[in-house]
Amino acid sequence: MTVLSVEGLSKTFDMHVLGDTQVVGLDDVSFDVREGEFLAVVGESGSGKSSLLKCLYRTYDPTGGRIVYHGADELADGDAGDGIDLAACDDREVIALRDATIGYTSQFLDEIPRVPAVDVVARPLREQGVPAEDARGEARELLSRLDLPEALWEAYPATFSGGERQRVNLAQALSPRPTLLLLDEPTSALDPETRQAAIDLLREYVGEDTTVVGVFHNTAVIEAVADRVVVLDDGKLQRVVPVADFEGEVVG
Ligand SMILES: Nc1ncnc2c1ncn2[C@@H]1O[C@H](COP(=O)(O)OP(=O)(O)O)[C@@H](O)[C@H]1O
Ligand SMILES: [Mg+2]
Repeated sequence: MTVLSVEGLSKTFDMHVLGDTQVVGLDDVSFDVREGEFLAVVGESGSGKSSLLKCLYRTYDPTGGRIVYHGADELADGDAGDGIDLAACDDREVIALRDATIGYTSQFLDEIPRVPAVDVVARPLREQGVPAEDARGEARELLSRLDLPEALWEAYPATFSGGERQRVNLAQALSPRPTLLLLDEPTSALDPETRQAAIDLLREYVGEDTTVVGVFHNTAVIEAVADRVVVLDDGKLQRVVPVADFEGEVVG
């Protein structure tokens, strides 16, 4: 079953400071994502990978095209089965979908307020109504699976290294168990051992009713986790291939 249909998706940026010129982020990109699939997105720096994920999460308003999402059909009352166009639905629907089914981690680690790591990870669960101690227990489990030293669980991520913070970010995205998970270079700051722990967790996490679209630049990671690979080049879709056919590709 198709969970997400990206149809002719475009994003241009108006650069008023550059004398009203336009920068192309994405140009007429189309592909489908199947339910339970792990789709890797690759391409040179500046090829549109982050723009694609931000359009899917609606951090960016697409300039054109459709993003038909079927992952919340059971939540819709009237038009169940038709999907929701993430490119066109109103902000309220976007927020409801994020709360219920769509998770995202950005490539750059957000400044985190003075909240202990374990509570940063537990917060989405608390917002779903999970009791505090259960939420914190789940958070500790995730942080331990990602090899974050126990001494840091009660410390503030603002003081952490890039790799430590990235693990908190990933744990926070996984904790509410979104059915569509969007990851922008989630392992880029990790050393090889920690990266392996993240890969193991992600492989276990994605399953029949969990779909992942993730930007990765490390070929070994892609081969370990992905089912198919979307290759972007200068904002355009170059091709979509099964991971077995991806071998030897240069990744930017
Ligand atoms: N918020 C923005 N404002 C202006 N230009 C942007 C913005 N976001 C991305 N771009 C431009 O869109 C293109 C694609 O960027 P991006 O999606 O970040 O690529 P990637 O993640 O593959 O490195 C680049 O030319 C980039 O400068
Ligand atoms: Mg990027």
